[in-house]
Amino acid sequence: MGTAAVLTGLGAHLPPRRVTNADLAERLDTSDEWIASRTGIRERRWADPGVSTGDLATEAGLRALKSAGLGDDARIDLVVLATTTPDHPCPATAPEVASRIGLVDAAAYDLAAVCSGFVYALEAASNAIRAGRAANALVIGAETYSTILDHTDRTTAVIFGDGAGAAVLRAGDDTEPGALTGFDLGSDGTRRDCITVPAGGSRQRAAGGEPAEADRYFQMRGKEVFTAAVAHMTASARAAAARAGWPLGTVAHVVGHQANLRILRAVGEQLGLDPGTVVSNLDRVGNTSAASIPLALADAAAAGRFAAGDRVLLTAFGGGFTWGAAALTWPDLAAVTTDERSPIR
Ligand code: ACO
Repeated sequence: MGTAAVLTGLGAHLPPRRVTNADLAERLDTSDEWIASRTGIRERRWADPGVSTGDLATEAGLRALKSAGLGDDARIDLVVLATTTPDHPCPATAPEVASRIGLVDAAAYDLAAVCSGFVYALEAASNAIRAGRAANALVIGAETYSTILDHTDRTTAVIFGDGAGAAVLRAGDDTEPGALTGFDLGSDGTRRDCITVPAGGSRQRAAGGEPAEADRYFQMRGKEVFTAAVAHMTASARAAAARAGWPLGTVAHVVGHQANLRILRAVGEQLGLDPGTVVSNLDRVGNTSAASIPLALADAAAAGRFAAGDRVLLTAFGGGFTWGAAALTWPDLAAVTTDERSPIR
């Protein structure tokens, strides 16, 4: 028996504005048939102008604390916010979110690993807990990709949605339900151009010369990303399961980064798992990047799909390239608040 970070609460929040494939087909050369058959996405949520990543993160964080049975006087030692779309280049969004939630003096920072961000953040918080530097942590994945999309580019504008999901971790032992027992992380910076917003950082500066219009927005080489996503999500999931000492046949659910239903199915197949183990909610939320795994977990929990003690493999892939996976024994969670309950496929 050893110390482990244990999941004790989950929360999710989606902005209310629903954008269907048909809505997009009204102004882009695309169709519900193309989007649904190539990606599995049928609708996504986009934040209204003025609503930020921090706004969504705050709501999801509050819901996660409530799900963990923590009230207004909650003390949390560490807040890690995984995001690609922070409220500002400076400062980080996490300290403001922590303050808005009422978490006084918590260590708080943003973590940028694009779509792998939530798994990276879980690993960072888990390490802090296992090292005895934090008794508990709030891990949030939140994004407003609608603010960085080129809304005239059909190859990316139809894929991404906004949202936030959050998890509360506390110190516990590695044999109890909720324990995070195996992680695997990796990256390959030689493939950085496959997923990028080229301008606005120190390489192509926001001030001192106008960047090309397209360089201000998110760009993705979808086909190359697809192949790499399947390979790395599969390999990383295998590595995390091996570190946890789990034979793959004992895994009850695979919660992958919700990028594309075809990717999720391929990962399940390559792991040799039954199609029923693959969890997906992207039909109604799209690809929400760092928010996608906690949103899928919260949806599945709210729908009662998981039982305490079930072995759940999380696996993600994103810009960088980055990838990561985690082995989670499902906890005995009380209520999980999402905006709506939906049947999980
Ligand atoms: N509507 C209609 N046609 C379209 C659309 C659209 N929205 N988008 C592209 N097309 C066309 C293309 O122009 C192309 O036409 P052509 O054959 O005449 O050239 C054709 O459809 C096929 O395009 P592909 O890019 O080959 O389509 P593909 O089947 O690869 O699907 C997709 C594209 C959905 C983006 C897929 O490649 C994918 O899911 N990639 C992985 C994304 C991913 O995993 N991301 C994870 C990380 S994301 C992150 O980290 C932020």
